[in-house]
Amino acid sequence: MRSVQVGICGLGTVGAGVFNLLTRNSQPINARANCAINVLQVGARRDNPNCDTADTEIIRDIFDVAKNPQVDIVVELIGGTTVAYDLVMTALDHGKHVVTANKALIAEHGMEIFAVAASKGLVVAYEAAVAGGIPIIKALREGLAANRINWLAGIINGTTNFILSEMDSKGRDFEDVLVEAQQKGYAEADPTFDVEGIDAAHKLVILASLAFGMPLSLEGLFTDGITNLEPQDVAYARELGYVVKHLGIARSSDQGVELRVHPTLVPEKSLIAAVNDVSNAVMIDADAVGTTLFYGPGAGSEPTASAVIADIVDVARTIDAEADARVPALGCDLSLLQPRPIMDIEDIETSFYMRFSALDKPGVLSDITKIMADSSISIEAIIQREHPVGEDYVNVIILTNVTKEKLLDGAVEHIEQLETVRGSIHFIRVEHLDQ
Ligand code: HSE
Repeated sequence: MRSVQVGICGLGTVGAGVFNLLTRNSQPINARANCAINVLQVGARRDNPNCDTADTEIIRDIFDVAKNPQVDIVVELIGGTTVAYDLVMTALDHGKHVVTANKALIAEHGMEIFAVAASKGLVVAYEAAVAGGIPIIKALREGLAANRINWLAGIINGTTNFILSEMDSKGRDFEDVLVEAQQKGYAEADPTFDVEGIDAAHKLVILASLAFGMPLSLEGLFTDGITNLEPQDVAYARELGYVVKHLGIARSSDQGVELRVHPTLVPEKSLIAAVNDVSNAVMIDADAVGTTLFYGPGAGSEPTASAVIADIVDVARTIDAEADARVPALGCDLSLLQPRPIMDIEDIETSFYMRFSALDKPGVLSDITKIMADSSISIEAIIQREHPVGEDYVNVIILTNVTKEKLLDGAVEHIEQLETVRGSIHFIRVEHLDQ
């Protein structure tokens, strides 16, 4: 059996998972790759007590791995977009195929990296960059190749889903759950990437590019995280029959492409509402197949390693093939990708959940509903909840029918100007997806 030499750069949570899984499952992995996959070198600044690398050469300079003439595939698992970018470019320069789990790198520099790789007949594979262990890149690029994609929506950050699930089911504190997600190795090195939606934005760009055949670009993407979500909104959502999830949504229409990441109310009976903990799920609606849902672990050592190794197997199996015989990084020749206008969030149509504090006296609600009616916004449900005893204000929660965000913003501005309304209005978008 011929052998393919792999150099792993980075021995953190995912690196250790890749090393251990390659060792543990070498028999089926080699059979599937039709060659012996050998980890020749590991480049890491420090050892990882979670894996036994006694029989493998560990070197401190990852660039030595990228330049090693014996290495066929460089596996980039260091993260970030600076050193990782230089590492990937060095590896390509030295004729190595690259496997990476780095969504930020692909979202921000993918076009350049793929162009360099294509010009050299090399592969840059990135299955682990989106939705951890779920083979969503292959599904979109190859499994659904016959379809025009209408929309996709997904829970694509495990950390935020873990936090929201714990807040919802156990009433736990945001900070406390975040610390646990970090300890479990789910969160990014800088967890603001998770909770502010940046990580999900990187992943959404990759999915949208594959779905709609457009170049990778973060421009125009709307991002909102979960840091402003209040436990009372999670509870009110439940009262109305909804669950709050942090979704990445990409939708193609005649006006362009919607690209948005934000907390979203989804009906509690919808499939995506049942996706809890660190799990991810991506729902894809396409013209031929209809609606499909891909579900599984979205982060963590071995689930992510599972996707990294799938790429290593893919590259290894066809390492001697002509470059043209391989599936291109974004599913087609880069010259066939077409930029699409990205829609302004103001022009997007959806339903809304609104919460605000209003004076508890006759006529207040009718002033509010009049403003909504004047803005052509129809109300689906309204509830009023008492503040603690002694307060003259009540919490008002409104669920609207589908409307343009621009109209909602206008209504919000008017309502906030009413003397009977205190503070600002909190609103969350609502999506019905598979309903
Ligand atoms: N921080 C990421 C998440 C890791 O929580 O989903 C997987 O990309």
